[in-house]
Amino acid sequence: MTRTSFKLSTLLVFTMIFISGLAPAHAQLMQMPAEKYIAKMNDPARYLKVDEVIRKLGLKPGDIVADIGSGSGSFSIPFAKAVAPGGIVYAVDIDQKMLDYVAKRAKESGVTNLRTVLGEYDDPKLPVKNVDLAFFHRVLHMIEHRELYLDNTAKYLKPDGRIVIIDRNPEQSPENWMWLKESDVDTWMAAISFYPIDHFNLFRDRYFVVYQRPYGNSVLIKNFKPSKYKD
Ligand SMILES: C[S@@+](CC[C@H](N)C(=O)[O-])C[C@H]1O[C@@H](n2cnc3c(N)ncnc32)[C@H](O)[C@@H]1O
Repeated sequence: MTRTSFKLSTLLVFTMIFISGLAPAHAQLMQMPAEKYIAKMNDPARYLKVDEVIRKLGLKPGDIVADIGSGSGSFSIPFAKAVAPGGIVYAVDIDQKMLDYVAKRAKESGVTNLRTVLGEYDDPKLPVKNVDLAFFHRVLHMIEHRELYLDNTAKYLKPDGRIVIIDRNPEQSPENWMWLKESDVDTWMAAISFYPIDHFNLFRDRYFVVYQRPYGNSVLIKNFKPSKYKD
């Protein structure tokens, strides 16, 4: 190998390493440092209506729930209480610091049925394939490859498992932010054969939709109500 071609191939190798090192950053949108997030998410002014969400979803003891993008655990901890005894909540995040915070919070509140999971940008990397409910509250808009992520999530669900999306339409927000259109979510879901079975009118500024795939010996989806938005 000549000196010039050696230099060129070295440059090529470094360029490839640099590009591959950058790639994950593009798969994640507007990620903030954990400390900032935790302060933001623990702000008492946030209205999350967690108890009502639990009621609407009918969470019960024994259920297996994945709280995707669990953040500071605002949903994970009460979900874990709602599915005990017998149920488990997997709190999934891509930031280990956030997961450490949730684990500490669980321990302090005596919750023993919560497991933290370090997910990947495009895959929640759940350790089980019997999830009853995968829950996304204000997370999907941060994931760049949404359809891929949803497809990967579906692989961890039971045949009748549900995917819940709570997010915001761009027109529901005064700020210019990267929110998601509900109709786009419907399209990505339909691409993986999940269809809306429930819409809840719980939040003024967010849609709250439950998706499920046809299962069992029926082509009809259980509980399907053609009318949009139930209270
Ligand atoms: C806006 S916060 C919402 C947290 C929580 N769901 C809540 O509403 O309180 C978004 C969270 O999703 C996490 N996140 C972002 N991209 C993710 C991904 N690809 N997989 C899992 N978690 C992700 C962030 O680290 C952050 O903790």
